[in-house]
Amino acid sequence: MDEKICFATSNFHKFEEVSEIARSYGIMLEHCNIPKIEVQAESLREIVLKSAILTRLYTNKPVLVEDAGLFIKALNGFPGPYSNYVYRTIGINGVLKLLENIDNREACFKSAAALIHENGVIIDEGEVCGYIVRSPRGTMGFGFDPIFTPYGETKTFAEMTTSEKNKYSHRAKAISRVFEKYVELKRTI
Ligand code: IMP
Repeated sequence: MDEKICFATSNFHKFEEVSEIARSYGIMLEHCNIPKIEVQAESLREIVLKSAILTRLYTNKPVLVEDAGLFIKALNGFPGPYSNYVYRTIGINGVLKLLENIDNREACFKSAAALIHENGVIIDEGEVCGYIVRSPRGTMGFGFDPIFTPYGETKTFAEMTTSEKNKYSHRAKAISRVFEKYVELKRTI
């Protein structure tokens, strides 16, 4: 596919993760210099849709935006769509403190991705569930990666390479679903 997709993110790790998936679909991904417009809303789907519409005002190219959050069961899904704010304020240690003396460590990462192109918009979601470990491990990745282990694994996301994380991750699932639909659409028009 000749046309480049512009991925609006300021997060280098996300760009790496999504680039690897794009390559497997023969899609060229460009790190576009447009700030992802941050929108506050209760659902990740609503966030990415609004954010993609606003970001598209800056370019004629197809635009991809992605938003994710960590949903902790014992905290009724907190921080969820507020994960970015929580990460910047109380951080990993603050989250571990909230879970002190709590045995139910179950948590899920959720991601929503929206791709706006000349014929419309494709939105999809992905999820990975696992548990919050007792203390941070690993130096790779970003955000809450050092405290999250997906079910079926012993490593945290921060102990995995990009390819390993992509086998499990919420983002890999959401993005793959979007790219799959995009490739199919391009094939038929
Ligand atoms: P964003 O709004 O999609 O950038 O995500 C909100 C926050 O969730 C980020 O600041 C990270 O702390 C966290 N987050 C999202 N995705 C991931 C991930 O794949 N690993 C670890 N933390 C993540």
